[in-house]
Amino acid sequence: MLRDPTFIGTVQDVHGATITVELSNDTVTGLSFVRGEGYRIGQVGSFVRIPIGFFDLYGVVSQVGAGAAPQREQEQRVYGNRWITVQMVGEGERSGRQFKRGISQHPTIEDRVHIVTEADLRGIYGAGEPDDFVAVGHLASAESIPALVNINKLVTRHSAVVGTTGSGKSTTVAGLLNSLSESSHYPSARIVVLDIHGEYSKALSDRAAVFRVSEDATKAQKALRVPFWALSFEELTALTFGKLGDDNGAKTAAIADAIVQLKKDSLRNQPREGIDETRITVDSPIPFCIHQLWLDLYRREHQTVIAKPGGGQDELEPAYVLDANGQPAQLGDAMAVMPPAYRTVKTSGPKDQQINWSRSPEPLNLRQQLAGLASRLRDPRMSFLFNPGDWLPDVDGKTKRDLDTLLEEWIGGQEPITILDLSGIPSSILNDLIGALLRILYDAIFWARNLPEGGRHRPLLLVLEEAHAYLAKENSGAAATAVRRIAKEGRKYGVGMMIVSQRPSEIDSTILSQCGTIFAMRLANDTDRSHVASAASDNLKGLFEMLPILRTGEAIIVGEAVSLPVRTLISAPSLDKRPDSADPCVVVPGNKNEGFDGPAGWSQGRDPSNYPRMVKHWRMQNPHIFVQERDMEWIVTQSSNISRFAYDTDSKVLTVEFNSGGMYNYFDVPEAVFNDLRNAASKGQYLAQQIKGNYRYARA
Ligand SMILES: Nc1ncnc2c1ncn2[C@@H]1O[C@H](COP(=O)(O)OP(=O)(O)O)[C@@H](O)[C@H]1O
Ligand SMILES: [Mg+2]
Repeated sequence: MLRDPTFIGTVQDVHGATITVELSNDTVTGLSFVRGEGYRIGQVGSFVRIPIGFFDLYGVVSQVGAGAAPQREQEQRVYGNRWITVQMVGEGERSGRQFKRGISQHPTIEDRVHIVTEADLRGIYGAGEPDDFVAVGHLASAESIPALVNINKLVTRHSAVVGTTGSGKSTTVAGLLNSLSESSHYPSARIVVLDIHGEYSKALSDRAAVFRVSEDATKAQKALRVPFWALSFEELTALTFGKLGDDNGAKTAAIADAIVQLKKDSLRNQPREGIDETRITVDSPIPFCIHQLWLDLYRREHQTVIAKPGGGQDELEPAYVLDANGQPAQLGDAMAVMPPAYRTVKTSGPKDQQINWSRSPEPLNLRQQLAGLASRLRDPRMSFLFNPGDWLPDVDGKTKRDLDTLLEEWIGGQEPITILDLSGIPSSILNDLIGALLRILYDAIFWARNLPEGGRHRPLLLVLEEAHAYLAKENSGAAATAVRRIAKEGRKYGVGMMIVSQRPSEIDSTILSQCGTIFAMRLANDTDRSHVASAASDNLKGLFEMLPILRTGEAIIVGEAVSLPVRTLISAPSLDKRPDSADPCVVVPGNKNEGFDGPAGWSQGRDPSNYPRMVKHWRMQNPHIFVQERDMEWIVTQSSNISRFAYDTDSKVLTVEFNSGGMYNYFDVPEAVFNDLRNAASKGQYLAQQIKGNYRYARA
């Protein structure tokens, strides 16, 4: 019988999903040729096929050589190098090759084991309706085979993208989001990105609405507003009073009562559909004036009283500080966070002149917390929360706009992607804020589950960048609570998450284990690796041992969205669609005469600096540079290689855009040279002869 070139050995041991294969004598050399293609036999991470009847079982090689041999054989040492260990992962019908995860039958002793050829792989990975799948790259072992990811599973069963800094996580996510928001395939895509470093607005500028706390209107950013009154009581107290030091719960109860009362008043002044006064709780998303709450509580703590002139025996009135005309100097102003001025306690002198603490209602001993609240209400960095524009309740609790417009902006806008750029948010409140944002979004979708706005009709994908920053393991914070809830039940209501992190071991393992699909990129740290391996649904220790040696942009994708675990080279999106996260270079290739390949670095001359501008950006708390097109007077050319150029007289920078799309800055170019270029008959020739090589340049 002619030898089948794909045959490599026979099954000798089956232990659950782990099987041990003894290589045949012909194959221990390591290389086999099938239809002219060479295959390395038994490489860790490669696949094998075991035909059983009409089915093919598939497995992944996890160990090769002496260690893979059964104990008995290891002792003899003779055949040590002839063994491989394989983890079974799935099965498929031979005809039609419908591939399924999991196996319904086990191989047994002496079953024949084959290498999986490119043709087999194409059958496994290339399956499925085109609209259900996106290509994220190609197999690391076969460039011609695209790595397809099932979108249904990817979005609703949650996913995680993990890897060391610089392994390519953000680039992978940007590429995925680009594919998922492709309007020709997915005109109703709905994605919200929580972007704590402000990396994504550049990558997704053509299809995302960007919300930012200190928004830059010139960049078409919108203002991020999170009305405090949409928060639950617990979320709100964390962001306002902080710790109440409440022994018997009296303070909490008193504050909650006050808020319920204010919400009732507000509803009376401005009725809202879906709720009436009797059903209001402290958590109902109903506007109330927090400034008024502060003033009421301030009075309760600080008010002093004096006998009312001409009043009865026990009639008292507030003892305000009086001005020259005998009028109260400062009654207090809620919206301006201005406290009333009271006279100090005085217990000597005639009874009607005595000044005492007001004891009705009894003070709550909250002075410190109220001072904290007042300073937060005044803090401009918190105004997105306490001073949320059209959603700011006046003292009667009335607002110009309601939550519907807020939600519509976030998850119902024209663009498929919403980027909530949280880079200007004080880190002390980031956790609570993200928790509140996620809870607001999730609650809205949860209760709208049967409506067209809900997640069942139009699923929502939440992308959580740098998630370890707020999902730490022991963290009982608001963010972890919200994410845990979505991880557990989001699937049912059409809310999926993509968790991106460089420290998977710091993420709560209940969250990580709910991620049906994992994109594991280069990951050197042992603890991180074992966390990822144990979170993955497939039993694939061997595959994860490759994580430290993956190249940048390479990922092992395991889980529900891929038919088989796959080592993939992710295709990076085009340069203008990558996140703003490229590593700075200290040494940039190139030299002084010929220019440098990329911006900045120690190896090229200094760019003109402008430190006042540096301080301006710091004060604005906004890293984005906006090059206003109209400030650059472009001169368009008919040249065969230069499309247009512009000159800045202050910095003496000549900017040239080539027809190929590249744009370069030439530094320290005298104005006369620019004028000569402008007047030159052949711009391309002048540039080549007079400018290139004479002036330092760098790609813009
Ligand atoms: N698939 C890829 N192909 C080519 N370059 C990539 C790829 N993925 C990432 N890079 C590059 O690697 C660097 C780091 O990528 P980034 O996505 O920011 O990593 P991370 O988010 O994991 O820190 C960037 O300069 C990026 O352009
Ligand atoms: Mg990143």
